[in-house]
Amino acid sequence: MSKQEVIICKDFRSELEQVVGNQPAEQIFILTDTLTRKFCLPLLLESEKLAGAHIFSIVNGDEHKNLDSLTAVWQFLSDNGATRRSLMINLGGGMITDLGGFAASTFKRGMRYINIPTTILGAVDAAVGGKTGINFNGLKNEIGVINPADFVLVNARFFNSLSTEQILNGSAEMIKTALIADENLWSEMRQSPPKGGQPGFNDAFVERCIEIKKDIVERDPYEQNIRKALNFGHTVGHAFESFSYEKNTPVLHGYAVAWGMICELYLSYRTLNFPKEKLQEICCFIGKNYGSFAISCKDYDRLFELMTHDKKNDSKEINFTLLGDIGDIRINQHVSQNLIFDSFDFFCDM
Ligand code: GLY
Repeated sequence: MSKQEVIICKDFRSELEQVVGNQPAEQIFILTDTLTRKFCLPLLLESEKLAGAHIFSIVNGDEHKNLDSLTAVWQFLSDNGATRRSLMINLGGGMITDLGGFAASTFKRGMRYINIPTTILGAVDAAVGGKTGINFNGLKNEIGVINPADFVLVNARFFNSLSTEQILNGSAEMIKTALIADENLWSEMRQSPPKGGQPGFNDAFVERCIEIKKDIVERDPYEQNIRKALNFGHTVGHAFESFSYEKNTPVLHGYAVAWGMICELYLSYRTLNFPKEKLQEICCFIGKNYGSFAISCKDYDRLFELMTHDKKNDSKEINFTLLGDIGDIRINQHVSQNLIFDSFDFFCDM
């Protein structure tokens, strides 16, 4: 995997012009969702370098990260004569950077692309590290490739207008990043004074999380070992998320991951002696900010089944990333079905 350059923008317009100017392209394609087209695209179009760009939009929402949207993007590229020497700019959250990254990676066997995340979730996770793809058969990110964007431009100004829900959506991945890699960051985050009822996560925390993710991905681009650390909270989280879609009560990815972390911290406590007081402190923080997800023991078998479908698992054995302590990552952990059900009980009791 070639190295991807992540630029934390100080002056977005000039950094964008510099990056685009250094990428001679026959044509430029910009993929947006309906919201980023309205609120973020105008800032890009102030640049003359993007004056002739072809613009295509997908309705926002993760449920549109599917084969129909992908076909529509490929069709748009084809109708407008895109070639391997074209450049794609993905402007949006994880739905757009995953979908657009996959479309760019596969059209004519691949064109260069740039990610411009417009959400905190996108900046600290989806846009960095080259995972691209779509949901399929009710499963998250079931089809895709690992192929990094040439550049990721992070413009914190885009995050100022995010709703509380969207801030919490991204903050969950930041909590995860701190828990796997940086206890000081976790304690700063935990103690940062809340703003408008939500954790006061600031740009410096966002930057630190991007730095941690970039470092992990550079060490293990194809998820053979340490990159699996980034899956902490996701084995249960993805099952919660898929389950919520099945029930037609979709929850945001970050919320599902936050709840998934509660279960996986409990598993860490039971199997690796993760400290009990930290378990309680983190679970309280998550409970206070993210509320809960309604499951009952009737749902446990289905949740378990959804976990066995996860890409990370090759058989009926569920593969977890757990923690011996904050920053003490233990990949490839196997846990009995009974214990997983105990972690659901713990979650319900919270
Ligand atoms: N979202 C986890 C990863 O990029 O590996």
